Amino acid sequence: MCYAIPGRIESIENKTVVVDYFGEKKKAYNELDGLAIGDYIYAQGGYAIQKIPEDEAKSILAVWRETFFELQEVDLKLSRLDLNQQSVPAGFLKVLDKAAEGRKLTKDELLLLMKGKSQPALKLLFKTANFLRQKHHKNSCCVHGIIEISNDCRANCGYCGIAAGNQNINRYRLSGEQILEAARQAIEIHGFKALVLQSAEDSGYDIKELAEIIRKIKANWPALIFISFGEVGLDNLRILYDAGARGLLLRFETSNPQLYREVTAGKELTSRIAHLKRAYQLGYLVITGGLIGLPGQTEEDLLNDILLTKELHAEMYSFGPFIPHPQTPLAGYPSASVETVLKVSAISRIVDAANAKILVTTALETLDPAARREALLSGANSVMLNVTPLEYRPFYNIYPARAHETESIETQISDTIGLLMSLGRSPTDLSV
Ligand code: 5AD
Repeated sequence: MCYAIPGRIESIENKTVVVDYFGEKKKAYNELDGLAIGDYIYAQGGYAIQKIPEDEAKSILAVWRETFFELQEVDLKLSRLDLNQQSVPAGFLKVLDKAAEGRKLTKDELLLLMKGKSQPALKLLFKTANFLRQKHHKNSCCVHGIIEISNDCRANCGYCGIAAGNQNINRYRLSGEQILEAARQAIEIHGFKALVLQSAEDSGYDIKELAEIIRKIKANWPALIFISFGEVGLDNLRILYDAGARGLLLRFETSNPQLYREVTAGKELTSRIAHLKRAYQLGYLVITGGLIGLPGQTEEDLLNDILLTKELHAEMYSFGPFIPHPQTPLAGYPSASVETVLKVSAISRIVDAANAKILVTTALETLDPAARREALLSGANSVMLNVTPLEYRPFYNIYPARAHETESIETQISDTIGLLMSLGRSPTDLSV
């Protein structure tokens, strides 16, 4: 199974290579030694990840060539937009029309979309987002893997099931060897080209130890490595970058500083934002976003979350629904609705049409397994599969009954590829 299409290097200028994919030219940053024009490579997130022998590349391309253009046709059909809809209020329609033309919407216009309630209006909002996704990103969809390396947390966020205050869960921390083995399997056996290493905010790992793990992964297997260890400290971000991490996944959770304080037991949003800004300055690809449906959160808060994500130069938007965990202070509050999550996905696409990769989160799939498909048809173009060793997955229960908790990697991969193909998407990272 492969998630990337090999590209042929057309030109090289300093650290930038131009790569050809069936006639489309894309740029990638090159950190590999000895690449030459005519070589075949895999690229991910804008980075050249791996050189592939020519005969291997050609046989993979031969398989892709058969389906690639067919898939694009299917996607194109599914993303057609007809804005002639009598049942949608005129004001709403006008804003969608402007969005579809690629003009920048005002905050009031975006808020009108966020507050949309009628079913025909929302359906059209989602279709507009899908249209823009297709227009700018064609049918590409990123498939990343995530390994949850520890659930041992020093923070005490009120929404989170693995917060320090929860005495009723088993804590685990994978050893360096276990992490390396999980990474090896994900990259070497299952073919992932981008991996997120995620942990609770765990002071049990030494930063040098984490850096060493990243260095070893990079030395042994080709993949783009994202870190998601919470607030590690600004200086430590550099240490992990120098070790080879090239992406940071860190949600700011909410852009409302008061709400942030309330739900994180008194932490300050400024510290989280400082991490995100420093990461961007250092050259990390940034994945960020927030929780949808926190108690007291307004529609304007959600819009501000989207705008903040853009301001932070996010490569990928990660917004998921809040789902109450019974052993937390927020146990009594309701989950966000699927509809609100789809709205956030669609409006994110409208706000950052050409650049954003938008993730379908596991939390959304936990609300409703059908929502993954709906999100992919509402602006989203990215999925993350859980490649944590099966025996540890139940312990990373940030919220209960997480989707895919007991599914093997093979099952997740075949289901995902099946879904993407049915929508005409290529499981690739072509928008580099
Ligand atoms: N519901 C949904 N998402 C949650 N997270 C933590 N707790 C919950 C919950 N109850 C999310 C946070 C965090 C990410 C790792 O998990 O947004 O950043």
